[in-house]
Amino acid sequence: MTPRQFVRVAVTAAAALAAVVLGGMVISSTRVRAQEEDVENSKIQIGFKIAPVPLNLSGKNRELVGLGSYIVNARVDCNGCHTAGPANPAVPAEYAAFAPGGVPEFGQPLKVNPATYLGGGRDFGPLFGLPHLFTRNLTPDKTGLPEGGHTFAEFVQIMRSGTDFDHLHPTCTGAPNGTCIVAPFDGALLQVMPWPFYAQMTDHDLRAIYEYLSAIPCIENPAPAPSILHNDCK
Ligand code: HEC
Repeated sequence: MTPRQFVRVAVTAAAALAAVVLGGMVISSTRVRAQEEDVENSKIQIGFKIAPVPLNLSGKNRELVGLGSYIVNARVDCNGCHTAGPANPAVPAEYAAFAPGGVPEFGQPLKVNPATYLGGGRDFGPLFGLPHLFTRNLTPDKTGLPEGGHTFAEFVQIMRSGTDFDHLHPTCTGAPNGTCIVAPFDGALLQVMPWPFYAQMTDHDLRAIYEYLSAIPCIENPAPAPSILHNDCK
């Protein structure tokens, strides 16, 4: 073999090896992607199965609504706090999300109360000398946008930075008056709401939650404006 022939053989062998390695990488990354899609599809299916209220899918992205339902109902239990309670006088406030006869801790089959689902209004009381904190209504209002008409950009800011766009409880500048928050609590930020943890979610997950919250039925609240409980469906 001349040196030139040797070089040609070596280059051909290296190219063949590279093709095999690259081909393998493409196949395995395609396989991983397919597995990820399977996982996502089963979350979407579970999401539709466990949504406790009828969903309005018109104009919505179906996959995102299903995934959002999975996150809200199977992973982080937003309704555990964002529901007025207790609708069922036989149960303590912590179990307010359940319909009568549907309290799992009583050994009954789980049934979420659709009449108050994500309608907010639960009183977290004057914790640590703070004013009464109420969870907010997360259902869409007459604008069709979820949680009282917030845009997706605002929703992301709430979930990542805890911004309270309603400025319900500013930090006290003088003596506490029952509506302001005493330092070191920062009145510009949502308290009790676990946004410091939700902040780690992907944009895709937050988008899915937002899409789901825009598909659930509006819960009207006749409390007069500017009450935080107020919500108009029409
Ligand atoms: C541990 C109880 C708790 C859980 C769980 C919870 N929240 Fe909250 N959330 C609150 C409280 C309390 C407030 C109001 C805090 C305040 O007034 O400072 C709030 C406020 C909010 C706000 C602000 C609404 C507005 O109109 O400005 C949004 C949005 C929100 N929550 C969404 C969610 C979502 C989505 C989930 C589930 C992923 C969730 N919350 C889970 C307690 C909770």
